[in-house]
Formats: sequence, structure tokens, C-alpha cells
Amino acid sequence: MNTIAVIGLSWGDEGKGKIVDLLSEKADIVARYQGGTNAGHTVYYKGEPLPLHLIPSGIFNKKTICVIGNGCVVNLKSLYEEIILLEKEGVDIQGRLFISDRAHITFPFHIYEDKKIEEIKGSKKVGTTFKGVGPTYTDKYARTGIRVADLLHLDDLKTLIEFNLSTKKWMREKFNIKSILEECQPIVNKLKEYFIDTVLFLNSEIDKERKVLFEGAQGTLLDVDLGTYPYVTSSNPTIGGISTGTGVPSSKIKDVVGVAKAYATRIGEGPFPTVFERDFEDRFRKHAKEFGATTGRPRRCGWFDAVGIKYACMVNGVTSIAITKLDCLSGVDKIKVCVEYRTKDGKRVSSFPAYTKELSETIPIYEEFKGWKQDIRGIVKARLLPSEALDYLKGLEDILNVDITIISTGPNRKETIVKKEIW
Ligand code: GDP
Ligand code: IMO
Ligand code: MG
Repeated sequence: MNTIAVIGLSWGDEGKGKIVDLLSEKADIVARYQGGTNAGHTVYYKGEPLPLHLIPSGIFNKKTICVIGNGCVVNLKSLYEEIILLEKEGVDIQGRLFISDRAHITFPFHIYEDKKIEEIKGSKKVGTTFKGVGPTYTDKYARTGIRVADLLHLDDLKTLIEFNLSTKKWMREKFNIKSILEECQPIVNKLKEYFIDTVLFLNSEIDKERKVLFEGAQGTLLDVDLGTYPYVTSSNPTIGGISTGTGVPSSKIKDVVGVAKAYATRIGEGPFPTVFERDFEDRFRKHAKEFGATTGRPRRCGWFDAVGIKYACMVNGVTSIAITKLDCLSGVDKIKVCVEYRTKDGKRVSSFPAYTKELSETIPIYEEFKGWKQDIRGIVKARLLPSEALDYLKGLEDILNVDITIISTGPNRKETIVKKEIW
């Protein structure tokens, strides 16, 4: 089997887009399996950052076919805009993009609902991206959702939207079904050639020994089952999400590349034990350009949390790690790694707590590493890294007990050290 999964090991924005872009040079197919336009995967194309939200990050490799799997949620208008943007940039997507006929659709009323629910939650809000992703998944599980396959049957589609809105009386009056249909129809006409049975397609391509890369969105600690609930997204970015979100059985997934930054970030609400002290955080955020690719919000920044990342390696069965943004740590005197938590009652724990309040009350216990002064951006050979950077990476490998095979030293595809080819 020639398959790999690329999965974020923390709270998203680990640099998955760059790593997928790099690894998909050799991929026949790249498939997204969960999430929607809440994702923002930045790929540098012709030297400029281009954030992708729903289209897989393999799209810049001319021969790679991109698939939006059944586990994703699709906002038709945003998807169409993304396609237009890519075409303007000269990226030819004809015959290279397929959308699962089983994927669920995000409608304008889902976006409204996302905003309203956050408003109602007040101080307990999740800090969502307001892309309507949570409410789309809510409808999927409530069995009132509308799928890509339904778009091709206009009369049935009207009935389905009516039924959906009839279950939400508090917002029924706000939406005119006729105008929703009118807005959606021209886009459906343009996109319908992309709608296929991706379950069949992916399985038969894998059986033909084609190289398939599964691209995770968000990250393990945002997983609705395994993350810092309720401060999570509404899907499964972890490995199990691949099987449900593409119809490819877990026995067909060979390697799992976990992606983590050389430090930690988090956007949105929820506990973040290793957050930097405020002044340093502000300076670091600017220096490392830590602002959301989807919402532009400032990301909280902190030290590498090996407790969380170890947990993520376990739940995903990670076979190797890609460390990104190592260059952003240049100039930091002492680099810390959280190796255990001290709980409120003074106990030392090395496992990731299920009880989110407990996580928010923990105090990190750090191991310290010496920093380096040199600018390391763009270095492509490990031996050219300062000894302190090598010691830091070795320290992470020892703590996590997983090999680091890719080290990213800049946002461009070429700014990478590949210690071991994955395929
Ligand atoms: P994703 O959601 O996991 O794909 O990550 P994002 O694209 O949201 O955020 C990662 C950010 O870091 C993007 O702006 C990338 O261009 C940038 N990036 C990725 N790898 C590196 C790296 O090694 N060094 C630097 N300086 N930037 C990087
Ligand atoms: P990528 O794929 C970082 C966060 C939001 C919020 C929570 C729920 O770029 O790594 P949602 O809109 O999904 O209901 O929001 O999840 N979140 C992300 N954080 N990267 C992402 O995606 C995210 N997608 C959602 O900030 O805290
Ligand atoms: Mg992102």
C-alpha cells in the first residue's frame, strides 16, 4: 500500500499545508477527509502565501488529483470562489478535483446558526471560525443534513431544506428557501462534473497501488472525541476520521506523519497550559507571523507541549514526525518543552487529562534546551543546523520516542530538511 496520512498533532495550524504540498510532489491523489472552510492551509505558490480552505494542498502539483471526501462539509460558494482564485493564479484544476457525493453541504443558515450559538454561549463560547461547520455536522448527526448527491434533484432539495429549517423554528423565518436555491443552482451547474463516488474511486486507486495522501484539517487536540472538549471542532481530524471520512478502511493506511510546530499555538478558546508570558508572546507572535489563515485572529503562542503531542502520537499511531517553523525559534535564549503537568492538588501527571477544567488548571513542568542565535531559515541539510538546534530536535525525539523525518525551516516547499524520504 502506498498511502500516508498527514495529521496535525495539536490545535491546528501546525503547517500541514506546507508538508502536504511537499509530500504531494510524489502523490497521485491527495484527499481531505474532514472539516470544511474552517481550515486554512497556507501553501507558498510562486513565492506568495496562498491559503486553501477546502481544496486539498496537493492542488499545486500538476499531476495530483485532489479529493474532497465524504467526511468533509462543503460550502458551495466558498468552494467555487476558491476554484476561481486558483484558476486566476494559473492552476488548472480540470479533471483534478473530485467532490464526494456523500459530503454534507453548509448553507447560509448554518453560518447564521454558528454565530447565534456562539452569541448565546457568551463567556462559554468556543471561538469558532463562524464558517457554519459545527451546525452542518450537527444536522448530519441529527439526520436532517443535505448532501452533495441531493443537489442534483431540485424538487427534493427544496423539500429537504424545508424539512431542515422546520426543525429550527427559531430561525425559519430568517431564510428564504427560493433565494437559497437560486444562489446555489448556478454553482451546482458549474461544479456537478466534480461530484463522484469518491469512496469507490479512492479504494480502487489504492488497489492499483496509486500513491494516496490523506490530508487532515485542524488537529488532534481539536478532535470532537479526543480533543479538549468542548473547545474543539465538530469532526475527527484523528486517524479514525480517515476511514469514516473517505470510506477507505484503516487497514489501507500505511504511514502516519504527525505535524507539529517547534513550539505551540492555539486559536479560539480553551485551555493552553504552555502559553508564553504576555510580553514575550506579543513579540514572538509578530516575529513568527502567528495570525489565523482563515480569520486573521492572533494565535496564542507557547512552548512545545510534549504531553499533548505524545498523546496525539499515541491516538494516531504516528510513524514519523514533521517539525515545522524551527526557524522561528532562532534568537530565543532558552527553549522549554513541557514534559509533565502538575495538577492543582500537586500531583505530577504525564498523561493528557480528559477533564478540560483539569487541563486548564495544570502547571507545566519544563525541560530546558539551549537556544541558538543564527538565522536558520532555508537550511536544507541537518548537518548545517547549529548544534543547539540539533540537540533540541534530538531532545524532542527522545521525549516522544518517534523519529523526526522532516524539519521545516521556512514556509516555502524548498525550505525543508528531509532526513528520510517517506515515499
Ligand atoms: P495548517 O493549517 O496546518 O496548514 O497551517 P497554517 O497554514 O494555518 O499555518 C502555518 C503557517 O506557518 C503558515 O503561514 C505557513 O506558511 C507557515 N509555515 C509553515 N512552515 C513554516 C516554517 O518552517 N517556517 C516558517 N517561518 N513558516 C512556516
Ligand atoms: P487548520 O486546518 C486552528 C478552531 C477554532 C475554534 C474551534 C472550533 O487550518 O489547522 P469551528 O469553526 O471548527 O467550529 O471552530 O476550532 N479551529 C481551528 N484552529 N486551525 C484550524 O484549522 C481550525 N479550525 C477550527 O478556532 O477554537
Ligand atoms: Mg491553518
